Amino acid sequence: MADKTSLPQILLIGATGRTGRLVLEEALYRGHLVTILIRKADDTLPQHNNLTISIGDPCVETDVEKALQATKPSVPVTIISTLGQTRKSGNPWAATTSPRRFMEASAKAVLAASQSPSVRGMVKVEKLILMSMFGAGDSFDQLNFLMRWTMNHSNMDVAIEDQNLVDAAVKAGPLPFVLVRPAMLKNGEALPVKVHGNNGEGAGFMPSITVKSVVTFLLDAAVKSEFDGTTPMISN
Ligand SMILES: NC(=O)c1ccc[n+]([C@@H]2O[C@H](COP(=O)([O-])OP(=O)(O)OC[C@H]3O[C@@H](n4cnc5c(N)ncnc54)[C@H](OP(=O)(O)O)[C@@H]3O)[C@@H](O)[C@H]2O)c1
Repeated sequence: MADKTSLPQILLIGATGRTGRLVLEEALYRGHLVTILIRKADDTLPQHNNLTISIGDPCVETDVEKALQATKPSVPVTIISTLGQTRKSGNPWAATTSPRRFMEASAKAVLAASQSPSVRGMVKVEKLILMSMFGAGDSFDQLNFLMRWTMNHSNMDVAIEDQNLVDAAVKAGPLPFVLVRPAMLKNGEALPVKVHGNNGEGAGFMPSITVKSVVTFLLDAAVKSEFDGTTPMISN
């Protein structure tokens, strides 16, 4: 763990989700100052002296600017996004409940807000870390044939389309980034993480990873540069 005096602040987007809640808990435990941008007040989230809550839409540039302005001036900020396309259930064919391409809209809002003069005069955004997925971008060909078929023929195509657009926007953007591509999520404790390059080559037939392992990887990426500019595909 990094020296607490050199820890970046975290602006977390997606703090109400399955992974985001655990990122929030672990970031506070590690001693980061954390600001979360959430759409509406949520009394199930923790209260903590190091936590600032900003209410707004992560797809609206001015709302992201407000959240960045709510961080502590002069301490560098790393933005972590764990947004996800939602469906009525985990069934790949269940109806989608998020607007198409909203994650791309959020990525673009984050990139623009980080460069706005009012933000740049106040905080330095050091890095953008996004939770993407195995199957995004050039990792699609490494999925097994069943997963490729399911991604192409179910409502999971909405998630993969959006993640591909996020991938492209972030790679073309002005911020150092880490686009993390986890395997299928499962419950359980944080376990050692295997990194299968940028596209998942050699990850095996049906790789998986615990959400807590992803959380560890995302927060470690905030304090080290090893994966900057890359798209690490990870499993346990
Ligand atoms: N499931 C898997 O096996 C798997 C594997 C690898 C990667 N992933 C990826 O991991 C990421 C995180 O997954 P997760 O399961 O932790 O996410 P999740 O629990 O589904 O959380 C979704 C988050 O996105 C927000 N959100 C949804 N629709 C929104 C909208 N229209 N506008 C603004 N915010 C919106 C939600 O906020 P509200 O509470 O305000 O709705 C929530 O914070 C996803 O991108 C997913 O594709 C998943």
